[in-house]
This record gives sequence, structure tokens and C-alpha cells, in this order.
Amino acid sequence: MNLNVNIAGLELKNPIMSASGTFGYGLEFIPYGNLEDLGAIVVKGLSIKPRSGNPMPRIAETPCGMLNAIGLQNIGVERFIQDKLPLLPWDRTPVIVNLYAQSAGEFAQLAEILSSEPGVAALEVNISCPNVKEGGVQFGQDPLAAAEVVRKVRAKAGKKIVIVKLSPNVTDIKVIARAVESAGADCISLINTLSGMAVDVRTRKPCLANVFGGLSGPAIKPVALRMVYEVCSSVRIPVIGMGGISSALDVLEFMLVGACAVQVGTATFTRPDRLFSLVNELRELTRELGIDSFEEFRGSLKK
Ligand SMILES: Cc1cc2nc3c(=O)[nH]c(=O)nc-3n(C[C@H](O)[C@H](O)[C@H](O)COP(=O)(O)O)c2cc1C
Repeated sequence: MNLNVNIAGLELKNPIMSASGTFGYGLEFIPYGNLEDLGAIVVKGLSIKPRSGNPMPRIAETPCGMLNAIGLQNIGVERFIQDKLPLLPWDRTPVIVNLYAQSAGEFAQLAEILSSEPGVAALEVNISCPNVKEGGVQFGQDPLAAAEVVRKVRAKAGKKIVIVKLSPNVTDIKVIARAVESAGADCISLINTLSGMAVDVRTRKPCLANVFGGLSGPAIKPVALRMVYEVCSSVRIPVIGMGGISSALDVLEFMLVGACAVQVGTATFTRPDRLFSLVNELRELTRELGIDSFEEFRGSLKK
């Protein structure tokens, strides 16, 4: 079957893309597969100035997943544009840039810088990072603050598609989803990591220098699926689902509850070629299950 999907006007060859922060700037994965085979490439969160991130240790393994507190380490938007973007196959596979900023104005500045880059197809606004002190999840927990960021980004993003990435660390995700939709988001992606911690009884210390980190991987999939379902039932704009996806069956589960496409993160840590093999696995599974149109399958959950 044709695996094409369309997200807010963006044509993808298939619904599988990388999740920001787990795929570097894309180029690191060239030894493991053909970047052009992916639906889209979502790169690490970029800020205006480079950031060195949080102190180490900043990754801890947990049963069925991992905790991270990277703290948005990145090379800064200008270096990305100069050194990384030209090496990506952006004319054949859409490149989505994930944005991190500490104020609505700074988010808008990033959107303006990227709005004139032909190699960038969409902006994914990260208002959901649980691991930074300023400018992280507090935007994503307050509907008014979330809406202000989206309005300012939308005003400067020109023709670029604006995707807003939501946090699961909220009481009612539907409220935030509706707020960003009304403020002009073209698309919503979710979920970012769930806030968590791990401790070591022998050293009596937290496993992460930051104490708290973001939980990702298979452990969070049921939470992610529930939230994607809730958001898909609350907004009209397309939704990209993620959280613990590691197989083609997982991909179809997220589409069944309404997602148009998915992102895969932690699964690439255990198998760096996973994104690439997933595309073929999805093709085979759709054939096996007799699914011949994503249009018809998406959101077709029976109750
Ligand atoms: C090491 C690491 C770094 C991440 N960095 C970012 C980031 O820069 N921006 C962002 O929006 N999400 C970031 N995330 C969150 C992922 O994009 C994704 O939302 C989350 O991991 C859930 O998907 P998964 O369970 O498939 O990993 C990061 C996750 C991990 C594990």
C-alpha cells in the first residue's frame, strides 16, 4: 500500500519520523540507513545561542525506558543552518526543526530566522521540556502562556508549518491542545517525556545530577496513547503521536486513536537502525492486516 500521509499540507512518504533529541542532527544516522526513506527528519531542539546542557550524569536506564536530563544541549540555530542543514536530504525528505527558547519573543526570533530557510519544512515548538529551569514545561502547562508562544511564532513563521509539542505533565491536556489550536498551530505533536527520578541506594544519591529527568520508552506508551486519543478527540488540526513506539504495531495503535503520523525516539537508542526497518515492517503489517488506506484507518477505533 501507499504509505503516504499529508500533515497540514506537508507530504510525507510514510508516517514515520525521528523524535527530537534522539536522532542528533540526522547526519549521525547515515551509517544505519537511508535518511530519504523516512517520512521526515526531526532534529535536536535548537536555541538561538549554543547550549552545553545539564551536568553529567544525565541519562539513567529504568525498567522499560530511560530517564534523561540533557538540558537541551545544542549547537545553536546559526551553526545548524550553516553546517548541518546543507548536508541533509531536505529536498527529498522534510526536515523539521525543534525549537527551544526561554521566552515567547525568543521563540518568535527563532521562527523568523528559520522562516527563510528553504531546507526547513516545519517548526516544532517545544513548550514541554521537563529538564530545564527556564523556558521549559511552564509554557506547556499554562494555556495562556502556550497560546502566546504559538501566536508569536505563527506571526513570524511565514509559510512554515507550525507544530506545537505538548507535555504530558499537565492535569488536562485537552485544555492546552485547544489553546494552541486557537492560537494558530497547524499541527500538534505529543507526548514529550514524563517527569521522573531514579535514586541509588548504595551511594544515596540521585542517578541524575539534575535529580529529575524525563521518562521515555515503552513504559510511557499507554499514557501517550491515552493523551493522543484525548487530543485527537478535542482538536481539528492533525496530530503526531509519540511515546514508547518501537514496532509497526505501536505505529498503527497511535494511528487507530487518531494520529496522522508518529515519531520514534528511545527505540533508536537500543537499535540505531530501528527507524529505517520500521518503514518496511509497517508496509508488511498493513498488508497482513488488510489496511489499504490510512485515511480510512486513522481514528477508526470502535467503542
Ligand atoms: C535523550 C533525549 C533527548 C530529548 N531531547 C528533546 C528535545 O531536544 N526536544 C524535544 O522536544 N523533545 C526531546 N526529547 C523527547 C522526545 O522527542 C520524545 O518526545 C520522548 O522521548 C518520547 O518518545 P519515545 O518514548 O519514543 O522516546 C528527548 C528525549 C530523549 C530521550
